[in-house]
Amino acid sequence: MKKIIGIGGSLSDFSTSKYALEYALKGAQKTGAVVELIDLGKMIIPMHDTRLEMIPDDVKLLCDAVRSADALIWSTPLYHGSISGLFKNAIDWLQLLAEDEPKYLTNKVVGLICTAGGVQGMQGINSMEYIVRALRGWTFPMVVPVSNAWKTFDMNGVCEDEKVAQQLELLGKSVANASVPVVS
Ligand SMILES: Cc1cc2nc3c(=O)[nH]c(=O)nc-3n(C[C@H](O)[C@H](O)[C@H](O)COP(=O)(O)O)c2cc1C
Repeated sequence: MKKIIGIGGSLSDFSTSKYALEYALKGAQKTGAVVELIDLGKMIIPMHDTRLEMIPDDVKLLCDAVRSADALIWSTPLYHGSISGLFKNAIDWLQLLAEDEPKYLTNKVVGLICTAGGVQGMQGINSMEYIVRALRGWTFPMVVPVSNAWKTFDMNGVCEDEKVAQQLELLGKSVANASVPVVS
């Protein structure tokens, strides 16, 4: 049984990037995969600091979840044409996977979602694409930029745009079913 880890969200009480991730994970779950959502808005992750000798608990949790994943789904809000600081900082901590064998995200596929106030969500997707490549992972070709996110989800996290809901579920399902060329 595959394990799919979703990483994302924001510090907002009404986080569209978290809601979008929930839809994608629902899609993954429908394939029979085990899913887990790492809600960055609920975690205590200090700024990445190479001087720190103790690894914070939530950083350990994040790294162990990534290690245990067959595949991942990342979901960030678009901030000033790129990913949020919260998201980037969490991903910077994956530097702790540098000494793993295989290292970083080797052999893992990553599905990408970016929710935007306007219509430029692809900019956040493109930023994440570079990061996944740097971490030796494989991005899934289908991506979901969510435009006008503030009116796409209601206060309870219900997606009011049927087409977006379908795309998010399809992304989750596709990521869970995907296989990547194994790099040895
Ligand atoms: C600091 C900041 C920067 C933002 N920059 C952009 C931007 O460049 N383009 C855009 O379309 N929306 C921008 N937004 C709007 C967010 O992308 C949008 O509200 C998103 O849905 C927030 O995600 P969340 O609901 O998970 O917090 C920005 C919001 C904030 C708070």
